[in-house]
Amino acid sequence: MQTLLVTGGAGFIGSNFVRYVLEQHTDTTVVVYDKLTYAGRMENLVDVAENFAGRYHFMQGDICDAPAVNAALDQFGIDTIVNFAAETHVDRSILDPDAFMRTDVYGTYVLLEAAQKHGGLRYHQVSTDEVYGHIHGDHRSLETDCMAPRSPYAASKAGGDHLVNAYHITYGLPITISRGANNIGPYQYPEKVVPLFVTNALNDMHLPVYGDGGQQRDYQYVQDHCAGIDMVLRRGVIGESYNVGTGKEMTNLRMVEILLDELGKPASLIRHVEDRAGHDRRYCMNVDKLLALGWEPEYTHEEAIRATVRWYVANPWWWEPIRSGEFKEYYQRVYGQRKTLSTPAA
Ligand code: NAD
Ligand code: TYD
Repeated sequence: MQTLLVTGGAGFIGSNFVRYVLEQHTDTTVVVYDKLTYAGRMENLVDVAENFAGRYHFMQGDICDAPAVNAALDQFGIDTIVNFAAETHVDRSILDPDAFMRTDVYGTYVLLEAAQKHGGLRYHQVSTDEVYGHIHGDHRSLETDCMAPRSPYAASKAGGDHLVNAYHITYGLPITISRGANNIGPYQYPEKVVPLFVTNALNDMHLPVYGDGGQQRDYQYVQDHCAGIDMVLRRGVIGESYNVGTGKEMTNLRMVEILLDELGKPASLIRHVEDRAGHDRRYCMNVDKLLALGWEPEYTHEEAIRATVRWYVANPWWWEPIRSGEFKEYYQRVYGQRKTLSTPAA
């Protein structure tokens, strides 16, 4: 019997993880602890609340609020913390870094302290390939590579990882870290590129491709990531980090081509626009360490993109209200003044 505190469990990956774990492990109880920022949505967990009543609980709270975190650990007899809670969007981190430092760094510290004070709870940190920074040549990031983050988001996540490792080395806290590639799939807030482009295309709006679109990402299906995290929780070596991805990369333009093909929409929707400041050109990780635990990804990039497109097409009830709220103001801030490039950048 395991009782997990899943922080950030109302967000994109967290909610998929909660569903995955409750389906896979009938002896597991999950408590979602979430502040419900713009990215945290109760709609993401409606079916979970219905299907797993008794093994699923929800508590609204901030991971920076130590008394509230400690109360949640006591109230539910938590033995394991899985930390998904974070500010997560690079473009927002460029505009407003403050919340990233607070939640991704200080919030991680609060959770580690609480885990430590409760007798050394098992702690898992959900991190990202972005901590490795831009990857040159043919190299694939290894878990032992130095972190070299380049955006405020990536730097705040790297700060969290350093703290997690420090609590293991200094206090012996039983930790693991997973570093995931770019996730796509159901319930991703439409600020991230794939849901943004699908929902723009469904509204016959332009797709704002940053720069020449030759940047490379490992677009991984969210269920594969969730299975990887679960594997690390169950079989990972304490004190270790694990990369989670397909181990391959794809250009943004190729991703857009597949997305438009699945939707049956024209390439004329593509607009090359002014690039993101400090844009990392390539992420790609070596995932052999996780494969060795017995995990294997099920989806190729293309399958992941097509499955994601189909979900957004089938679920406008989920994204249409989002796009008409806070999102409109955000869209104007990021894209309103952005120059269209007459020719793609070199
Ligand atoms: P998301 O933005 O969809 O969700 C984040 C969740 O955290 C939301 O539910 C939000 O309400 C909650 N939250 C934010 N601040 C909080 C606070 N102070 N206290 C409590 N809850 C708070 O993010 P996501 O894409 O699901 O990412 C989840 C985790 O996975 C993050 O740690 C992120 O860095 C990591 N990650 C994301 C990706 C990706 O492609 N999206 C890839 C690798 C790793
Ligand atoms: P994003 O989903 O923001 O994830 P990350 O920056 O964390 O990798 O972006 C994925 C890629 O898509 C990245 O190379 C930036 C690019 N992108 C665009 O070209 N246009 C957009 O409007 C957005 C949001 C992203």
